Amino acid sequence: MLTKLKPTQADEEERELLAKEDRYCSHGDTVHYAEHPKLFERCEGSYLYDLHGREYLDLQMWYSAVNLGYANKVVSNALRAQLERLPQLACQYLHREKIELAEMVCESIERGFGMKGRVQFNVGGSQAIEDALKLVRKSTGRQRMLAFQGGYHGRTLGASAITSSYRYREAFGEFADRAEFIPYPYPFRSPYKGDAQRMEDHHIAEFERNG
Ligand SMILES: Cc1ncc(COP(=O)(O)O)c(C=O)c1O
Repeated sequence: MLTKLKPTQADEEERELLAKEDRYCSHGDTVHYAEHPKLFERCEGSYLYDLHGREYLDLQMWYSAVNLGYANKVVSNALRAQLERLPQLACQYLHREKIELAEMVCESIERGFGMKGRVQFNVGGSQAIEDALKLVRKSTGRQRMLAFQGGYHGRTLGASAITSSYRYREAFGEFADRAEFIPYPYPFRSPYKGDAQRMEDHHIAEFERNG
């Protein structure tokens, strides 16, 4: 809940929080890409609100915010009910929601793409990539990966190794399992701008050369 603060109090509180962040929070995170990171207090729909109660239309809507909207009541109520009923469970036990959600996801994919499968649940993007890498190793015995230049896969070791951008890897030394990086077929930044066929031929040739 947003506490109404006089502008001076809000300024002071913001200054104190930023100083504490600088002192106590890891600087390894993306927040320090911005020179003056913004502090937010609450959110609703497509809007974020800062300590002054100022409203910002969020044109990025990162992560699930883009699909669900901020502070979506249906999601919040379901989360609250689950937190009160069964907030956690060791993964060797089962619970209804896991099974029913897996069924919904599988049925939706089967309807949309005609493919049968099972769901591997995970807690985030990097871990999903890690699982995908392990799945490939386990089912094909292959270890060499192809990854697109400019792609971002997360900050775990495995995901960093197949992320082409040097800034995500430079502080961490050598990676044993690097991917072969191939160009992404993006006409806007292609060296063959305006010639889609040449761009496509070039990318397929690169893919075959590395694959
Ligand atoms: C395409 C992509 N893959 C992986 C990740 C990593 O996800 P997480 O931060 O949940 O580990 C991100 C996060 O922004 C992403 O955008």
